[in-house]
Amino acid sequence: MSVSAAPPQQYAETHRDRFLDELFEYLSIPSISTDSEHAHEVERCANWLADHLRDIGLDRAEVHATDGHPIVYAEHCQQPDQPTVLIYAHYDVQPPDPLDEWDSPPFEPEVRDDKMFARGATDDKGQFFAHVKGLESHLATDDLPVNVKLLVEGEEEVGSEHLEGWVADHRERLEADSVLISDSPMFAPGLPTITYGLRGLAYFEVTVRGPSHDLHSGLYGGAVPNPINILSRMIGQLHDDEGRIAIPGFYDNVQPVTDEEREAFAELPFDEKEFREETGAPALTGEAGYTTLERRWVRPTLDCNGIWGGYTEEGAKTVLPSKASAKMSCRLVPDQDPERIAELAESYIEEIAPESVEVDFEPAHGGDPVVSPRDTATVEAAQRALSEAWGRDAVFTRGGGSIPVVPIFDQVLDTPTVLMGFGLENDRLHSPNEKFNLENFYKGIETSTHLWGELHQ
Ligand code: BES
Ligand code: MN
Ligand code: MN
Repeated sequence: MSVSAAPPQQYAETHRDRFLDELFEYLSIPSISTDSEHAHEVERCANWLADHLRDIGLDRAEVHATDGHPIVYAEHCQQPDQPTVLIYAHYDVQPPDPLDEWDSPPFEPEVRDDKMFARGATDDKGQFFAHVKGLESHLATDDLPVNVKLLVEGEEEVGSEHLEGWVADHRERLEADSVLISDSPMFAPGLPTITYGLRGLAYFEVTVRGPSHDLHSGLYGGAVPNPINILSRMIGQLHDDEGRIAIPGFYDNVQPVTDEEREAFAELPFDEKEFREETGAPALTGEAGYTTLERRWVRPTLDCNGIWGGYTEEGAKTVLPSKASAKMSCRLVPDQDPERIAELAESYIEEIAPESVEVDFEPAHGGDPVVSPRDTATVEAAQRALSEAWGRDAVFTRGGGSIPVVPIFDQVLDTPTVLMGFGLENDRLHSPNEKFNLENFYKGIETSTHLWGELHQ
């Protein structure tokens, strides 16, 4: 790689177009982790990324097989007296469906109106790639002033099942002063943001069974239990009229929101009307006694994610279905425990189910909630880098989503995480027409180029 005299920011400016072309190559690989038919594409993506990390001049970049999708690990550690940052990201993406709602194909990235559109544009390929190009801008111009390790997994969107063991098995190799992640939104356009907490998750599936087979609803209806009617009624009993979750014990370990956080959230430039309009919902709703930001960041939730059963095709069919199912998930806050919450949910669901049906309860993946310290040297370096790139001081927020490995870094590696996201809340992550604003990509690269210098001691 040619060595230019220009500083990293200059290099990044000069190579803007190539950086975007390379990100488009990365985005065009359909690394959908949940779909086994795409396993070879997931693997291709891991290999593409490792090759790319080698090409930008990192000391080493490897693909590690797991019992699930591979893990990409890379490092560049040539400054023994300087801090080490472990950058975590995920190269897997959510499925793109419903496909017909995309204005351009999800794996054929396209720029419209100064935004790039593709599955993974913001979550998380584009945000992570900003660091890849920030690192390249140093490696190509001087040398990297600190040490970096990169851990990029292919199973984040399916619960990071195989990463926990891998992290525990590679404790020494992953040793670092801080974890850095860019996989969260900024609070508002142009407003740099550090996120210091994430909610945890408990996911489960409930099936209610009545008759052994579908029945004629005229011959049997009224006398035989209808699993859809019953499941719906049970779902209705999961919350009370105040929007609180009715599962006994659910709130036992919830840490109350502090006055300090309430005041800090209230000072953020939050426009509730704009937020509502962006969702398209006629009105907002939630747990009584809490603001919208509190409901989204520091209070737990229970949501049905999908519900099915009976006849859903064209026209009418008078059927009394034999079963009905729902997928449900709880977002958790400190100190709730995902396994305990799943157990409490199971007991309550069994208790409220009438004797006329049988209930199956299947727990799926989970993750712990986490809150990170705000007074570390890495947080302060991130604040300075963000101010330089965006011309404004960063705000601190918590996040409503989950990144299952963050609490693992805390518990297993004893390493705190800084979440410095470059995305926007309206980037439509997990939805059709996912996008990442070009400005956010380029400012993200600029932030990254500043960060490595700011971390130097
Ligand atoms: N990048 C998100 C997590 C996120 C979203 C953090 C919004 C902060 C704010 C991540 O890729 C994600 O979607 N996580 C899943 C985790 C789950 C599949 C285990 C989530 O939150 O649903
Ligand atoms: Mn993500
Ligand atoms: Mn995601």
